[in-house]
Amino acid sequence: MYASLKSIGSYVPEKILTNKDFEKFIDTSDEWIVQRTGIKERRIAADDQATSDMGALAAQKAIERAGIDKNDIDLVMCATLSPDHLCMPSTACLISDKVGIRNAMAFDISAACSGFVYMLSMAKAFIESGAKKNILLVGAEKISSLVDYTDRGTCILFGDGAGAAIISATEDKNEAIIDVHASADGKYSDLLITPGCGSKYPCRAENVKDKLQYIKMAGNEVFKVAVRTLTKDVVDILKTNNLKSEDVDIFIPHQANLRIIEAVRNKLNFPTEKTVFTVAKYGNTSAASIPMAINDAYEEGRLKKGDLMLLDTFGGGFTWASALVKFGGN
Ligand code: ACO
Repeated sequence: MYASLKSIGSYVPEKILTNKDFEKFIDTSDEWIVQRTGIKERRIAADDQATSDMGALAAQKAIERAGIDKNDIDLVMCATLSPDHLCMPSTACLISDKVGIRNAMAFDISAACSGFVYMLSMAKAFIESGAKKNILLVGAEKISSLVDYTDRGTCILFGDGAGAAIISATEDKNEAIIDVHASADGKYSDLLITPGCGSKYPCRAENVKDKLQYIKMAGNEVFKVAVRTLTKDVVDILKTNNLKSEDVDIFIPHQANLRIIEAVRNKLNFPTEKTVFTVAKYGNTSAASIPMAINDAYEEGRLKKGDLMLLDTFGGGFTWASALVKFGGN
């Protein structure tokens, strides 16, 4: 049995926060943000909208497009760095409930922006081993709940949203997840971190006063490691599978910064027409970034059954991952 990405879905909140909006409350400009990041606007969830609400809406779309009965889903995984609740229940349990999936195994994974590709690796293993048949993967984020809107170095980067996919067992290798490489190096953990509200700096008044609950990032250092790692990862996965850049139908990189995407794309000779760019309209949506980008490519008619996708992502931890996936949807 092979694992096949059968369908994709996404959800974006209605509210749009533009670069011009930021000019009203922090010392920045539309020009600086566009030049340094390529981001023009991002979506922001409503106050009463939690990560699981967005995840459930994306999941419903993916289930509908897969044409499967939700009762046939035997595993639900959610990747998020902005879960509804810090410890329990998991956001995957809440999404299962909202979608109406009962009795399936459900859990969250923590791999920051690399979460969706990490989940692909697990889904592949679960299906190829015969343990599961239909798996719902959700990458969902309300990063606006973790952002310090007085820190101009981070707040302009992130947005909210969700993406979901159904991974099913198939005998057809032409619609299979071919390979996934996923790695991490914790020595970089301090460069991109939400220090507070865990066991190290619990959610106590003094830690909240010091704003430890928010994302802190050494942007410039993250940038350099990201470009180096993302490029190497793509070279490695193509080489392992005896493929060349030209064999890839569509390159779908993590949408953190247009300059990072362009640096990797140029080094690997992927033409713009074969690359998906959503960073301008959504910003960095972390674990939701890759499935939201796959969804946009699908809805724009750029993704056909059997097309070879190359996914490439990098995030806090540091974690990074790449995947070669033949699209199995219609
Ligand atoms: N508006 C105006 N000026 C700003 C802003 C802003 N929003 N933010 C920072 N600056 C200033 C800085 O204060 C600094 O000023 P100084 O020279 O007077 O000190 C100057 O701009 C340059 O700052 P840098 O941090 O060196 O700017 P850089 O070109 O590196 O761009 C950025 C910053 C956009 C954050 C970039 O480093 C980046 O994208 N980093 C990688 C982010 C990423 O990929 N993260 C990984 C995934 S995220 C995840 O896993 C959750």
